[in-house]
Amino acid sequence: MAILDEIRRFWDDDAATYDDAPGHRPTSPAVRAAWSAAIEALLPAPPARVLDCGAGTGFVSLQAARLGHRVTALDLSPAMLDKLRAAAAKAGLDIDVVVGEATDVPGTFDVVIERHLLWTLPDPGAALAAWRRAAPAGRLVALESLWGRADPLEVLRARLWRAVRRWRRIPPDHHGEYPQAVRDALPLGSGTHPRVLAALVEEAGWRSPRLHRLRDVDWAVTLEQRLPERLLGVPPRFALVAT
Ligand SMILES: C[S@@+](CC[C@H](N)C(=O)[O-])C[C@H]1O[C@@H](n2cnc3c(N)ncnc32)[C@H](O)[C@@H]1O
Repeated sequence: MAILDEIRRFWDDDAATYDDAPGHRPTSPAVRAAWSAAIEALLPAPPARVLDCGAGTGFVSLQAARLGHRVTALDLSPAMLDKLRAAAAKAGLDIDVVVGEATDVPGTFDVVIERHLLWTLPDPGAALAAWRRAAPAGRLVALESLWGRADPLEVLRARLWRAVRRWRRIPPDHHGEYPQAVRDALPLGSGTHPRVLAALVEEAGWRSPRLHRLRDVDWAVTLEQRLPERLLGVPPRFALVAT
């Protein structure tokens, strides 16, 4: 099976429970408020034409639409986008929804935003370059975190978190995992580092990358945790913005 078909199938199967994980769709009002503040600060003044790439069930799309932006949500997975459509209808928000691959950008935009998509792209550089062409005078906002083998502290933190989750019997965030062969085919599939992303962003033709720690989101998330988990902290979230 072609890799994109495998990835699409994974997310189609994940759609039913994706929003159950608070890391995907936060239930805490404080965490939601921290995300709103971060996204508002990173986007230009509304109304801008915003493309949310790998939009999934729409957490970022909905936040941007609520701020008054004209949002297009692009994703490979029809099932994830069905969830987005339902959430937008429930919130009374108008969002254009497009099923497609990250490199097939439907039109031109003032902003291309993504959250947690780059790690799962077989060619993240090609996607960043396509987004650049679709927003020649616009802005890139990549919402990511430092995780995985990209940093030894994160390897240790993830190991400790896995142990805590087993102890607390917290269900996994996803219905399964990518097959190893799929992970091996993804350049960022075992971890993301801001250094690597900033280099990729520049190579793709974006200028002046700016790195922001999303400290308020991390803080709000940490405040929701019990002890001793709170001492473990969370993988640091960050935004990479370029023009
Ligand atoms: C980790 S989820 C992130 C969803 C959403 N951005 C969020 O923050 O909740 C990754 C999303 O990327 C989508 N995706 C994976 N590969 C893609 C590709 N090549 N083109 C477009 N979307 C893709 C998946 O279907 C899934 O919805």
